[in-house]
Amino acid sequence: MKLIDGKRVSSQIRQEISLEVKKIVEEEEKPPHLAAILVGDDPASETYVNNKAKACKEIGFESSNYKLPGDVSQEELLETIDFINNDDEIDGVIVQLPLPDHIDEYKIIESIKPEKDVDGFHPINVGRMSIGLPAYISATPFGIIELLKRYEIETKGKNCVVLGRSNIVGRPISVLMNHNSEPGNSTVTVCHSRTENIKEITAKADILIVAIGKKEFVTADMVKQNAVVIDVGIHRVASVEKKSGFKLVGDVKFDEVSKKASYITPVPGGVGPMTITALLHNTLKARKKDIYK
Ligand code: GUN
Repeated sequence: MKLIDGKRVSSQIRQEISLEVKKIVEEEEKPPHLAAILVGDDPASETYVNNKAKACKEIGFESSNYKLPGDVSQEELLETIDFINNDDEIDGVIVQLPLPDHIDEYKIIESIKPEKDVDGFHPINVGRMSIGLPAYISATPFGIIELLKRYEIETKGKNCVVLGRSNIVGRPISVLMNHNSEPGNSTVTVCHSRTENIKEITAKADILIVAIGKKEFVTADMVKQNAVVIDVGIHRVASVEKKSGFKLVGDVKFDEVSKKASYITPVPGGVGPMTITALLHNTLKARKKDIYK
């Protein structure tokens, strides 16, 4: 069994990006600039946005955070996005999710200029990705593809089973794995909460991508010998062994599944570290106008 080290791949990609930033700055051009909008004061979202800003700084990007109160009106949020959409100094913008209930998330996502939608959530980017046009790929699917690529895992002609059909992971990764590309060219089956006989389906997977949001859902009996297992889940469980009092586990029962897998992503340290890196990758693309020429 080989561990897929997301931390190592992530730092490798960040090094590649920072070299490109150096080149841009040496030519006296402005570095990429990422803006993040945070509504309210949810501590997890605040941490996430602060980590993004820190990652930008480390890599030589500009970043700005727009903090709006939790009771901000949808109109005001739309005005902030409109301002950023029209600011030539800003290359990419993300609106941290989830948003408060009084705000229509889809209306907000659709108001972001597709050229600046570095989260890849806008229907234009999702649509372009679906038909194989250049597009911003959202963070987790990008991370998975990049891990498969950099570990040179053969995907062509393989049975790929995706557990979960969410808009941000299951659906887009199933489309990407099915594309005529490398990685890609897999025969893809998507399972979800209404799928019958899940175990029979997962047991045939050469590549099993798990984004079902259920703690340690995948057990060894569900997995084919030598399968490649990608675990997108992240859950906190109480642990007396840890000073913090908790540890992180995924959607896969790692201890038993790792004995059968040929490759497996750990939690933490697998797909997770790739997500902010994906955002940096997309922001560099936005700065270079690589997607929308
Ligand atoms: N909340 C949790 N993950 C994400 C993400 O990748 N993008 C945005 N905008 N919000 C999030």
